Amino acid sequence: MSYPAYQYDHLPYQVDNAGEASMPSHTPVLLNESVTGLHIKANGIYLDATFGRGGHSRVILNQLGEQGQLMVLDRDPQAISAAHELAATDHRVQVLAGTFSQLGDLMSQDINVDGALFDLGISSPQVDQSERGFSFQQDGPIDMRMDNAHGMSAADWLNRANSDEIAWVLTTYGEERFGDDIAKQIVQARARSPIKTTKQLVEVILAVVPSMAAGKHPATKVFQAIRMHINDELEEIRVGLPIVTERMNSQARLVVISYHSIEHQLVSDVLKRKHISEDLTDSTSSKPKLRKVGHAIRANRGERLANRRARSALLRIWEKKDGT
Ligand SMILES: C[S@@+](CC[C@H](N)C(=O)[O-])C[C@H]1O[C@@H](n2cnc3c(N)ncnc32)[C@H](O)[C@@H]1O
Repeated sequence: MSYPAYQYDHLPYQVDNAGEASMPSHTPVLLNESVTGLHIKANGIYLDATFGRGGHSRVILNQLGEQGQLMVLDRDPQAISAAHELAATDHRVQVLAGTFSQLGDLMSQDINVDGALFDLGISSPQVDQSERGFSFQQDGPIDMRMDNAHGMSAADWLNRANSDEIAWVLTTYGEERFGDDIAKQIVQARARSPIKTTKQLVEVILAVVPSMAAGKHPATKVFQAIRMHINDELEEIRVGLPIVTERMNSQARLVVISYHSIEHQLVSDVLKRKHISEDLTDSTSSKPKLRKVGHAIRANRGERLANRRARSALLRIWEKKDGT
């Protein structure tokens, strides 16, 4: 059996999504560093928990041998369709459609992994398609669901939630200091006409936060906060990481790329086995099953210049302790 030769030796890490001519692409972040961090054994079993467009998966496959296996997970139907295209060309790939928190049911009970990768957050195709509603730079319906076949859209939530709930989300997940005022403005605006588009929401935000602070668009934090709430992103990390930790063999590696301070902190707290409550405070902790490997890694200047998403990326590596 021969495998497709995926070559990523040439920076900047642009992935050619073979067979996906109609699908937008994603430039994987910290590609070489993350796959190197997995310490891949040729015949090992690996999990890419955030398949996206498979940038990381393809490099993992390059390093896996004939008996190796790669499970790939995503909750986004377009990502899953791209994953099925890859699986059709490579028998080592098994596609899991669902969320981190469902991994306990999705992974075969008799399988433990030799390494797992989480490249958190959203992919470029999700942001770049205006109809997905993730971007404040393009007008579209405010959807923001990674799995846009299930659950409540951001528009539905924004038009139903009360002012206190909206303020809590913006302040807690977006660390938005104008969260209370923006929430009140949203409630006033929707009384005149339901907020259905990203443009409408941006106009509401600009009425409260008029200036660009530190080169950031005033809507940046609000969009991040709503997206995190709609996709239950922190709960997914809080529930999903321990599931994978339990299913790792001794000395298996866990590689996590996170993109903002709340994610960075939550990942390390969860892996230290602190018990985090919903308002992000922690209480007691129990003995960690993983040990940290090396220092956190940031993208180098070349990658940061070539790929905006790489600017905030933080890569960390853990290893499962023997006998845990
Ligand atoms: C940053 S992208 C990954 C990109 C990928 N590494 C690549 O190179 O193409 C994150 C992906 O993870 C998925 N995702 C995020 N949170 C998830 C969750 N809780 N469960 C399953 N998939 C999730 C998103 O839908 C998105 O496709």
